[in-house]
Amino acid sequence: MKLINKGKVKDVYETDRDTLIFAFSDRVSAFDVVLKDPIPFKGKILCDFAVYWFEKLKVQNHFIKRVNTNMIEVKKLNMIPLEIIIRQFLYGSLYQRYIDKQIHISNFDKYFMNRDLKMAARLPQPIFDPTTKSSLHDVPITEQEILKENILSEPDLSFLIDSSMKVFNQVNSIVSKAGFLLADIKFEFGRDPKNNVIYLADSIGPDEFRVWDKNDYEEGKVQKSYDKQILRDWLNETGFKAAVEESRAKHTEIKIPELPQNLISQLSEGYISAYERITGLEFKDKI
Ligand SMILES: Nc1ncnc2c1ncn2[C@@H]1O[C@H](COP(=O)(O)OP(=O)(O)O)[C@@H](O)[C@H]1O
Ligand SMILES: [Mg+2]
Repeated sequence: MKLINKGKVKDVYETDRDTLIFAFSDRVSAFDVVLKDPIPFKGKILCDFAVYWFEKLKVQNHFIKRVNTNMIEVKKLNMIPLEIIIRQFLYGSLYQRYIDKQIHISNFDKYFMNRDLKMAARLPQPIFDPTTKSSLHDVPITEQEILKENILSEPDLSFLIDSSMKVFNQVNSIVSKAGFLLADIKFEFGRDPKNNVIYLADSIGPDEFRVWDKNDYEEGKVQKSYDKQILRDWLNETGFKAAVEESRAKHTEIKIPELPQNLISQLSEGYISAYERITGLEFKDKI
């Protein structure tokens, strides 16, 4: 197997011309930095999540089979160079764009212009907010630009909007029954070079969606991230976040701290509990 991409969390291998293997690791990242300590069972949980969603969602997807504890085999596709983000709350980079008066989303420009909205406000309906895919940083792109730049034809764009909204609604209904709000989710799609059919690709798990516990939700504030909050809080308290920002500004090397053992176990338990709550399945450490 040839390693073709080592991501922050997963490693992608090529097996033959038609298939890829995704290996989910126990690595964890925060503020775009991969930490040194592995989180026990995280790779298995991400793999369990991927299998759960690809089998559950009623949309053509690239999943072929599970290979082992932390690997899946998928159909190799020509990826559409977009990150399809569907959002239900004014949060993260969308909130920043709102503050900067830089939102350009068909049919919603007026909505964002004429209101005084708070951080984490619920949007009137889920919105389609794609970005380009780049290794540096993703840039929002409008439907008009997607067509003008020939990234997709009009029917393919309609298909993508329609499929991603349908998948969003299915995920939303499942996490909502588990007591979570689905703030946003990212999808990637690719095309089968043999027949041009578009499939849902990449993965779906806590690195792709943002969920908040319904009981903790409060408009106007930074929300508690269900899975990584304790890590972010700890990194804030120990000054790591500030140090990362400083290193980035000065282009110096980032010193990565060692995580305390109890934080590592809490993180591991957090991922397990998110998996169990959302899927209603019991987590097992073996397959
Ligand atoms: N079925 C597929 N065929 C080909 N490439 C895929 C498929 N599914 C996902 N990919 C691509 O594989 C890569 C996975 O990388 P990932 O582990 O997410 O790390 P990163 O996004 O940090 O590069 C992404 O570029 C994604 O677009
Ligand atoms: Mg990725």
